[in-house]
Amino acid sequence: MFEKYVKRVTLRNGSKVTLRPLKKEDLNMLVDFFLNIGFETEKYFHPFPFTREQAEKIIRELDYEKFFPVVAVEEKERRIVGMVFLSPFKRGEVSSLGIGLRHDYRGLGLGSRLMEFIIEVAKDYGVREIRLSVYADNCRAIALYCKFGFEVYKVRKKAVYLKWDGKYHTVYLMSLELGI
Ligand SMILES: CC(C)(COP(=O)(O)OP(=O)(O)OC[C@H]1O[C@@H](n2cnc3c(N)ncnc32)[C@H](O)[C@@H]1OP(=O)(O)O)[C@@H](O)C(=O)NCCC(=O)NCCS
Repeated sequence: MFEKYVKRVTLRNGSKVTLRPLKKEDLNMLVDFFLNIGFETEKYFHPFPFTREQAEKIIRELDYEKFFPVVAVEEKERRIVGMVFLSPFKRGEVSSLGIGLRHDYRGLGLGSRLMEFIIEVAKDYGVREIRLSVYADNCRAIALYCKFGFEVYKVRKKAVYLKWDGKYHTVYLMSLELGI
């Protein structure tokens, strides 16, 4: 029933990319994505460590109801260049969303295509609401979420300490009700 969730898109640089759920056989591509995600992406997107072990764990424990990862596969290079996930992924429930692209695939419209796709999928599946958290200085991500109708419902001032700059960061909690 998840096979129907597939879409082909063309990015601003002409790359053809397939958006589809992560599969068991994607392990090598997932490891490559994690190891090449780039500091600029990891800085803002760190739901888990981007290691080989974590990629193996995700593939081993793949259970779409708990964690539903959609990957963007660049067709020519045959590599994963982005990921968006919903967790949990259940009818009538609230899902948390995370999104991150390989550093060299940002700014090409891929984030917008992935958001468009995951919102369509969530509506089709019957998810009630999508929530996420974003650092207040992550202007590009905030612009992306606002574009798709997400609204801030809480501000957590200086709530998260990040090792990379040794500072506390403000986080916005945002949500999108899907009208289910
Ligand atoms: C955030 C992220 C997913 C956005 O994806 P993207 O493909 O780079 O974004 P898009 O090209 O689709 O642009 C989305 C919107 O952001 C805005 N935008 C684009 N570049 C921007 C910039 N440099 N600064 C501010 N806003 C910008 C525009 O409004 C754009 O919409 P438009 O193309 O219709 O004008 C991606 O940049 C990324 O992976 N960043 C690092 C990880 C991250 O921050 N994840 C989110 C954690 S909450």
